[in-house]
Amino acid sequence: MGDLDGKVAIVTGGASGIGLASATRMAAAGASVVVVDLDEERGNAAAEGLGGIFARADVSRPEEWESLVELVERTYGGLDVAHLNAGVTTGEGDVSRMTVEQYRRILGANVDGVVFGIRAVVPAMARRQGGAIVATASLAGLIAFAGDPVYTLTKHAVVGLVRSLPQQLSPLGIRVNAVCPGLVDTPLIDGLARDTLEGAGFPLIDPDEVAAAVLGCVLGDSTGQAVVVQVGLEPVAYRFGGAPGPRLPGSEGVLPPGIFAAHDQAPAGGGPG
Ligand SMILES: NC(=O)c1ccc[n+]([C@@H]2O[C@H](COP(=O)([O-])OP(=O)(O)OC[C@H]3O[C@@H](n4cnc5c(N)ncnc54)[C@H](O)[C@@H]3O)[C@@H](O)[C@H]2O)c1
Repeated sequence: MGDLDGKVAIVTGGASGIGLASATRMAAAGASVVVVDLDEERGNAAAEGLGGIFARADVSRPEEWESLVELVERTYGGLDVAHLNAGVTTGEGDVSRMTVEQYRRILGANVDGVVFGIRAVVPAMARRQGGAIVATASLAGLIAFAGDPVYTLTKHAVVGLVRSLPQQLSPLGIRVNAVCPGLVDTPLIDGLARDTLEGAGFPLIDPDEVAAAVLGCVLGDSTGQAVVVQVGLEPVAYRFGGAPGPRLPGSEGVLPPGIFAAHDQAPAGGGPG
């Protein structure tokens, strides 16, 4: 018996790298897997190998999300897991040289793809009385990454979204987390000086290690967490701290109640609380 027997999972960017590793782990755990990608050839091959189906979709397009969820519910009767993972880099570290096309493309895949993905999968998961969403952010969602500042912007956006959703989604039985890997050995880093990194002996993470952390998020009971995945470390939920909490100066209470996430309400060091 697999942990995901009878469950239905969507993996975006499932034709390559982290998404392919995640789809493979989910299928091995018993899930029916829907591989979503722009790359039809690799997507079809991946889905065939996993006994699932391939759906070509551009995650940045909201209307494609609607048809995708319809297809999944029609084919498998429901949706339980969504790994929102498709993503790109800008390919341009110098913000003054970045083109509008590069900017729109990365915001589309990395931010719109997660926002519209969540918007589309939540009603389907609610119809199943619950589900699990995992977004692939990045360590660049937690720290400054000068190599691609706009990539860093997109991944911070994903972390902020994921941390802000549990209050809405927990009552529906839906958990939402992000994984934040360091540099992973996938085609994505070909645009990020792979040769220099390898030449310097920089350790790259195996995509399967990220997939294991994703499965951990799917099967665990945490929500609103940003889980760091790094070489030689067990996946660990990042502990935010230090920002002044959303409290009135001198007040013990949190105003207005229920608006701010519980994990940010505690008085914190580093400024007026
Ligand atoms: N490789 C790393 O070092 C690293 C580190 C941290 C986070 N990440 C993140 O992991 C995720 C997966 O990246 P990867 O490293 O496996 O790269 P990858 O290039 O191997 O895979 C990304 C996949 O996403 C697909 N894709 C891109 N834009 C899409 C769109 N608009 N709609 C549908 N599919 C689309 C691509 O066709 C590709 O198959 C990305 O979000 C990336 O930002 C990667």
